[in-house]
Amino acid sequence: GERYVRVATRISKKECAVIQSVRSNDDLVELLLLLDALRDQGAIQVHAIMPYLAYMRQDKVFKEGEAKSAKTILKMISEVCDSISTVNCHFLSGSEEAVYEHVRLMNLDAIPYLADYFSKKVKNPVFIAPDKGSLGYAKCAAQLLDCEFDHLSKKRISSSHVEIKMKDMDLKGHDAVILDDMISTGGTIIESAKVIRRGHPNSVNVGCVHGLFLSGIDSFKGSVDRLVSTDTLENPVSKVSTSRLISEYLLR
Ligand code: R5P
Repeated sequence: GERYVRVATRISKKECAVIQSVRSNDDLVELLLLLDALRDQGAIQVHAIMPYLAYMRQDKVFKEGEAKSAKTILKMISEVCDSISTVNCHFLSGSEEAVYEHVRLMNLDAIPYLADYFSKKVKNPVFIAPDKGSLGYAKCAAQLLDCEFDHLSKKRISSSHVEIKMKDMDLKGHDAVILDDMISTGGTIIESAKVIRRGHPNSVNVGCVHGLFLSGIDSFKGSVDRLVSTDTLENPVSKVSTSRLISEYLLR
């Protein structure tokens, strides 16, 4: 179960950027080994860019005694590199540099890329956040496309079960686009889509940055008309590329 890393290129006196999403514990160990190996071999600067970075949803202690996992993971990574960046970190919003638990990190925002994708796919969008916490994503996309936005209200019952309620929204004649930072089990989106469908929109579309899809893509069939994610995690619907977002940031 151990990982092995070897840098096969001469990187002495070079500035290095490692772009690797961290989805599993193996990915994390591999990343730590690689970043440290680059430093050991004389890289002048080592930048860690993790388009998806696992553990970021546990940025607080929700129940007494829990680990603040996001803090621990970020502290470990910061020990072996000079800068940390990620895409749509769960506890940050917009493109911003932030300091969390004494660790500096850059958050890159992929929502404009999702908005651009939907601008070409639907005629009359209204962006909807599944809960108030995700309202910023819907607002950002709506401002870019000059259209309406709103949010539902969500109560989490268990890790895979949520209760969604809709406010008074007029969706007739609109293409509903639900936007969220990530889809994990899919429970949030499937429940949101059911509720939204009752408002008789022309279509129900879903966009997310990080598509984990733990219950598989097929679980969305029948509930949503269009499902798309960015490619921070590769999956059959990761049609929106984040490469420009990342490369432009690196060049800056
Ligand atoms: C939660 O706050 C996030 O923004 C997502 O709504 C959540 O991670 C989705 O999880 P799931 O797909 O398991 O409902």
